[in-house]
Amino acid sequence: VTPKIMLRNPISLVSNEMNNLAKHVMGLISSGHPTLNRVTSYYFEAEGKKVRPLLVLLISKALSTIPINERNNLKIDKSDIPDDPVYSQPPQLTILENPLSNISPLHILHGIKPLNPLTKGPEPIPEASFDNDNGILPKQRRLAEIVEMIHTASLLHDDVIDHSETRRGRPSGNKAFTNKMAVLAGDFLLGRATVSISRLRNPEVVELMSNSIANLVEGEFMQLKNTAVDNNLNTIDEGRKELPPSIGKFTNDLHDYRVPINDNLLTSKDAMINTAFEYYLHKTYLKTASLISMACRSSAILSGASPEVVDSCYEYGKNLGICFQLVDDMLDFTVSSENLGKPARADLKLGIATAPVLYAWREDPSLTELILRNFTQPGDVEAATKSVIQHNGVQKTKELAEKYRDAALANLRSSFPESDARSALEFLTNTILSRRK
Ligand code: FPP
Ligand code: MG
Ligand code: MG
Repeated sequence: VTPKIMLRNPISLVSNEMNNLAKHVMGLISSGHPTLNRVTSYYFEAEGKKVRPLLVLLISKALSTIPINERNNLKIDKSDIPDDPVYSQPPQLTILENPLSNISPLHILHGIKPLNPLTKGPEPIPEASFDNDNGILPKQRRLAEIVEMIHTASLLHDDVIDHSETRRGRPSGNKAFTNKMAVLAGDFLLGRATVSISRLRNPEVVELMSNSIANLVEGEFMQLKNTAVDNNLNTIDEGRKELPPSIGKFTNDLHDYRVPINDNLLTSKDAMINTAFEYYLHKTYLKTASLISMACRSSAILSGASPEVVDSCYEYGKNLGICFQLVDDMLDFTVSSENLGKPARADLKLGIATAPVLYAWREDPSLTELILRNFTQPGDVEAATKSVIQHNGVQKTKELAEKYRDAALANLRSSFPESDARSALEFLTNTILSRRK
């Protein structure tokens, strides 16, 4: 038997959908305010990796290869995405001041095109353009678009939180438009993503995708640090040296990892590192893997897959998502800002100890102090970086990422029969570890 050559460009199977992704998203996020439109579309203009929608589309295609008799046929959702009633029946506004025109001097001053109450808002995507032969259902394609919208919203917010000045080789949204606009644009994208999620008309999918948004925020909260860089740069907290008393005890410090040993509140370093690692992986699931895994699960539900397949798609997303973030945390140590298109060596400066540091910590007890004070003293970042190199923290992180990759590959094999789409997913899963940005 000649071995099948697995080298297939994973995008080629869904290139139509990928090429139209940004255009479709633009239709979902247009507003009546030109500047808001510029901020919300800003990150879609630069070429991102778009790995999340690519995954959703490939999973959807792989799901279509499962024989109908192995699915609950009645549940396969082939229906079109309904037009939103709010858009189809715009409220009839009564303009009291000037019945002939709804353009006020304020509109003119700010260059705002007023919302015409008779416009229908974003056009629904003409489903006639959908290539039914590709096996991807209209709602699965929309799901891919929703995932990219949620991800982009989180990037707009993330760059504000991280004080990042670059993203995708350009000034970040906060830098190009101000923090306020970046935050509001992220909120707007989330609002429109929520509209699109509800239009999928599947309560289970609504619940999953809503939870993924909540999980993103919880994961981000888990890694908030009260560091000098935040206090110095955050405009609201400017000059603040301590958290406001209203916050009370802030529970993101390793001080909270002290675990009772022999009924005493003694701290064992090993116990602390183990707890820190569990905390790190839980945070990683929430901040990165949850969105992917919930979307994989949702795609399987829309295809009417069996509960076993729904579960293994979810497991695939979880394992792949954690692998993806482990690689991200490695690249923060190994690749330059120029090559990443965003700030490198950022995590330590933000006070965040990721897997490479946690591995080095096992060998190097002197890191405890630095980690506990979130690398805030002069020289801490350099010392921690040196320790990571000396104790092979990056290599060990790579080995952990390989374990998650292998688990993800096993999930693929238990989810789908052999097909081009499955091969493409295997290829994509393998490339996560060799990516350089
Ligand atoms: C990138 O991480 C950021 C995330 C994976 C999630 C960020 C989530 C929030 C800011 C919560 C708000 C969420 C929504 C949905 C508005 P990173 O900073 O490690 O990566 P980077 O190097 O790409 O900046
Ligand atoms: Mg960031
Ligand atoms: Mg961040």
